[in-house]
Amino acid sequence: MDVDDVVAICMVNALADNGEADVLAIVQNTSPEKCAGVVSVLNHYYGRDSMPIGAFKGSGLSPDAPFLPYVTELVENWPSPIKNTSQVPNSVDVYRKALAGQADHSVAISSIGIFTNLEALLKSAPDEHSPLSGYDLVAQKVKILAVMGGKYPESNGQPECNFCGCAHADEASAATAAAATAYVTSHMPPEVKIIFSGFEVGVDVKSGGRLTSCAPESNPCRAAMISYMGPNKGRCSWDPLTTLVAVRGAANVSCSECTNCDGVNSVDGKTGNNEWVSGPTSNQTYLLIHDIEAAGAAIDDLLCQTPKHLQSGVHQPYVA
Ligand SMILES: *[C@@H]1O[C@H](CO)[C@@H](O)[C@H](O)[C@H]1NC(C)=O
Ligand SMILES: *[C@@H]1O[C@H](CO)[C@@H](O)[C@H](O)[C@H]1NC(C)=O
Ligand SMILES: *[C@@H]1O[C@H](CO)[C@@H](O)[C@H](O)[C@H]1NC(C)=O
Repeated sequence: MDVDDVVAICMVNALADNGEADVLAIVQNTSPEKCAGVVSVLNHYYGRDSMPIGAFKGSGLSPDAPFLPYVTELVENWPSPIKNTSQVPNSVDVYRKALAGQADHSVAISSIGIFTNLEALLKSAPDEHSPLSGYDLVAQKVKILAVMGGKYPESNGQPECNFCGCAHADEASAATAAAATAYVTSHMPPEVKIIFSGFEVGVDVKSGGRLTSCAPESNPCRAAMISYMGPNKGRCSWDPLTTLVAVRGAANVSCSECTNCDGVNSVDGKTGNNEWVSGPTSNQTYLLIHDIEAAGAAIDDLLCQTPKHLQSGVHQPYVA
């Protein structure tokens, strides 16, 4: 229900082109079946059909959740090997396989939506990918979890959308989402660093506007921006900024980690409200932003890069 998810996925593909990130997988945490198709369209544009995609296949989310016009536009008008969630595995399977294959304490997870997949991962049992439980696998492999969600130091009765899952959602789906947020924030292994990127951080960072004039019409990220915002208008950068922090670190993205805020995030599993609870030092912190213009420009620079496989001229267009 926003376009900054698209911006984050295009941006991380550009980071991969630069050798700044090795993107192990992208998993859909909501129910609309065409969303996995959008991920595939974006990855295909960047020449990454091989990147694993998964989708949440658990219970508790309405299959009739709304989605935006760009979802249908991209899946119907751009080539991609995957059109919908029926063609991808369960996210838990994708997560476990991706984590099991990596060095210990090496993986960054950027969480830019609701927490259905992460909850299922943490609760998962040993399988053919790993003899470890989901909790132990996360503890062993994950270096950092960057979370777009919540408000800091507190949401004050007005929960942030990813934490409550309540925007555009029916009550039962929102209840599933809020419970998942509380589960994940209170059950992450304490040795995993968590950086919370609050509503207030990304809201004033605008990105994607330049993309509508720097990129060709064939670029599906540009098309999604125009469908959502119209031309030459930037959008709040909650998801791309969080993902950029996961890859480059806070200090390299005109941000810093809160230094005088020992304690942990506490989330109400009924409402999705959160507050920072002062206490002993933990591996949890939240993000502060210092230069909204520079942060937005860093994202726009990445979005305006021509995909690497198109630069070299070796791209073979996808044929259905
Ligand atoms: C999902 O995509 C496949 C492949 O294009 C298609 O055959 C199937 O009908 C689609 N399913 C739905 C529910 O749209
Ligand atoms: C923070 O993480 C490190 C490992 O990265 C761990 O040794 C330490 O115990 C953790 N701190 C807390 C308070 O859990
Ligand atoms: C962060 O910035 C420093 C200084 O410019 C640079 O050396 C480092 O490689 C950057 N780290 C990442 C992950 O981009």
